[in-house]
Amino acid sequence: MKSVSDLGDLTGKRVLIRCDLNVPLDGETITDDGRIRASLPTLNELRDQGAKIIVLAHLGRPKGQVNPKYSLAPAAKRLSELLATEVQLAKDVVGESARSVVESLSNGDVGMLENVRYEPGEESKDDAERGALADRYAAFGDVFVSDGFGVVHRKQASVYDVAQRLPSAAGELVKAEVEVLGRLSEAPQRPYVVVLGGAKVSDKLAVIANLIKIADTLVIGGGMAFTFLASEGYEVGKSLLEKDQIEAVRKYFNDAASGGKQIVLPSDIVVAPEAAADAQPTVVPANAIPADQIGLDIGPDSARVFAGVIRHAKTVFWNGPMGVAEWESFAAGTKAVAQALTEVDGLTVVGGGDSAAVIRDLGFQDDQFGHISTGGGASLEYLEGKTLPGLAVLDGGM
Ligand code: 3PG
Repeated sequence: MKSVSDLGDLTGKRVLIRCDLNVPLDGETITDDGRIRASLPTLNELRDQGAKIIVLAHLGRPKGQVNPKYSLAPAAKRLSELLATEVQLAKDVVGESARSVVESLSNGDVGMLENVRYEPGEESKDDAERGALADRYAAFGDVFVSDGFGVVHRKQASVYDVAQRLPSAAGELVKAEVEVLGRLSEAPQRPYVVVLGGAKVSDKLAVIANLIKIADTLVIGGGMAFTFLASEGYEVGKSLLEKDQIEAVRKYFNDAASGGKQIVLPSDIVVAPEAAADAQPTVVPANAIPADQIGLDIGPDSARVFAGVIRHAKTVFWNGPMGVAEWESFAAGTKAVAQALTEVDGLTVVGGGDSAAVIRDLGFQDDQFGHISTGGGASLEYLEGKTLPGLAVLDGGM
């Protein structure tokens, strides 16, 4: 995969760079700027070289419609602060305003197009429609740098098609992510423990199937644990349950057993009468969840067991909270897992924008973990062994 340095002298060149600035917002306030910070090394490198930088990015899923709720304005403002230079945000994606921002750039300046997903062509399944938009992006640049790791699993105009139209290279973030995730996939140090949480088993089916082959132990918490518990014949009350996934989960247990692998489930659960921040929490055994209660976190015994398994690992990949971590009464399980990761003598990788935001919110620092991936879906698909369009295209593939 080519690096920025392979693109030659970039002084005065117009560099289109795809970043993933899809940050969580509370109104117009960014609640976690991790993805913007992660974009800084390549942007600074390009500025140092005197390139004219044009940032392509998305926010949320406006589905091809202009919608001010999804404007990149908060991201442009935060990026301006972090780079200590004004980042000019165009009022449109490929219209007059975008053209005039691009034309106004001096060497080392940074401009940004509005949310690329305002354009229907960006996410179109039709190659020609995506291609037509990518032609318009390409007209704004001399070269393309792909640095939005969180979107490399998307075959979209600003990720995939534009890279076919300009000399292209991977930015620092994409390179760093690929290097670490590659270490998880090829010859990880053992024991290798994968901790999965979050709501849905169905989102993670493919990755579970692949990781059972590679990892030694799978630790399952969060909402998805209830489908695993149900597959063991337990009642799960009002907890999240994906009945249609029970058969798939049974197969994982069989695959794990035949491969000498272990799947660790919670032994106790923090339940409440309803899913609310102020609901009354009670700890119950995982095989005795009352019918009128909903599970909102793993219990203290599970947290202790999970932490023990994690601490003894040499490689850990973690994706997804153990409970509703944004509510204090149901955050202890996630906190215990995060704490255990910080005590591992080996490589720890936290995958996913949401998981990263959760651990920062719980008071942990980035440098307490080996690597915090900016990609949720992207890191999971990488670990599934899938070909990611945004990476393949940089290697001249797809
Ligand atoms: C993410 O949040 O994981 C990335 O920004 C990709 O967003 P998407 O899932 O809406 O494509």
